[in-house]
Amino acid sequence: MRTINLFTEHLSRFMGADDLKAIHSEVLSAKKTLLEGSGKGNDFLGWINLPVDLSADIVKGIKEDVERLTSKSKVFVVIGIGGSYLGARAVIESLQSEFAAMEPDRKSPLILYAGHTLSEDYYYQLMQVLDREDYSVAVISKSGTTTEPAVAFRIIKSHIENKYGKEEAAKRIIAITDARKGALHEIAVQEGYRMYVIPDNVGGRFSVLTPVGLLPIAMSGYDIDKLLQGAKDMREMCINNEELDDNPALLYAAVRNVLYRKGRKVEILENFVPQLKYISEWWKQLYGESEGKDGKGILPHSLSFTTDLHSMGQYVQEGERLMFETVLSVAGPRHHVEIPADEQNLDGINYLLGKTLTEINRNAELGTILAHVDGNVPVLRIEIPGIDEYVLGQLIYFFEFACGVSGYTLKVNPFDQPGVEAYKKNMFRLLGKPGYAEK
Ligand code: PA5
Repeated sequence: MRTINLFTEHLSRFMGADDLKAIHSEVLSAKKTLLEGSGKGNDFLGWINLPVDLSADIVKGIKEDVERLTSKSKVFVVIGIGGSYLGARAVIESLQSEFAAMEPDRKSPLILYAGHTLSEDYYYQLMQVLDREDYSVAVISKSGTTTEPAVAFRIIKSHIENKYGKEEAAKRIIAITDARKGALHEIAVQEGYRMYVIPDNVGGRFSVLTPVGLLPIAMSGYDIDKLLQGAKDMREMCINNEELDDNPALLYAAVRNVLYRKGRKVEILENFVPQLKYISEWWKQLYGESEGKDGKGILPHSLSFTTDLHSMGQYVQEGERLMFETVLSVAGPRHHVEIPADEQNLDGINYLLGKTLTEINRNAELGTILAHVDGNVPVLRIEIPGIDEYVLGQLIYFFEFACGVSGYTLKVNPFDQPGVEAYKKNMFRLLGKPGYAEK
């Protein structure tokens, strides 16, 4: 079932059917390159078949771990950075209550994150929580050598061993890493941790449908079967359809490349519901790392409306015309809240009575789109019917597939990230890491 629809009517002032017709053969050829594995980075295409290839044993193992650890953990710490963290957080924060930490009758462990920052205060505050609450840990690193998660794991490993003793601590730690190499792999083997493998042919930012994303998502109480089913259905659609109208990923890749060539160098992904904020963070990494290279690439940016209409709205309306917008629009809410009547109407909002908050929000969305188009900003709208595991599975696969097609259309290797190394070399040299100090 298709749950993601693209609406291009607000693009008509900026690009036409002829532009799409002209680029159609290019995106088709990019799709062919992707599916045949004949392009650059073709040793990192394992994500294409993950929804169908992922073994049932892995899913079963994850569910068993969830059962084993849920009963003894109020908190589950996920240690990882970049692709080893953002996908899980995107799905969990989309699905859980904004106030999950305050839920009195929470059945699943609350997920806390580490390894994505080097802030000392952050770790101090995290340790204070871990002193009080029972917890377990997933430490996730494909290379097994990334500094931020390694530092976090050193701190948390020491804490959990002091709290529970070495033997019990080892039962509360799950390592997700390379099958053969890396420091984390070695530690996990030596300490006897439960381990999951990140396949060699799946890069970090495409790894959410491996245990990297699936374990934390399941630990948080969400249905990974539905997530995988959504991805599977979207895979069918992306792989089997050649027409832009039938294949949302091809259409998205086509639109963004047409707009880029017309000088729109920035894409702003916008939501009107704050729970999608981390979908934007995941999307920024996916597109930023995949396309930002060789002096090329659309700069991915994100805003949460209506909140940011009261900050960045001014720039979008009247600043430099660098950007186009992609509105990630949600058709329906999961819950309803009444706006109460007030005879006095001192606040002047009685005219809204009888309307749902979602209706008001949808009008804010349409009003914003019309204003921004008037302000000379092209707007693409992606609509999803609601937020659940199935829809998120579709959305993840849609963005991933479109990213591969878009990257090849841009003529870059969408599956490497050589630029990420530059800061690391300087940091290692400054910190005196052996082998770097003299460089
Ligand atoms: O997408 C990527 O490859 C990166 O963002 C990595 O996921 C990130 O740098 C973390 O790497 P690792 O999993 O090796 O610790």
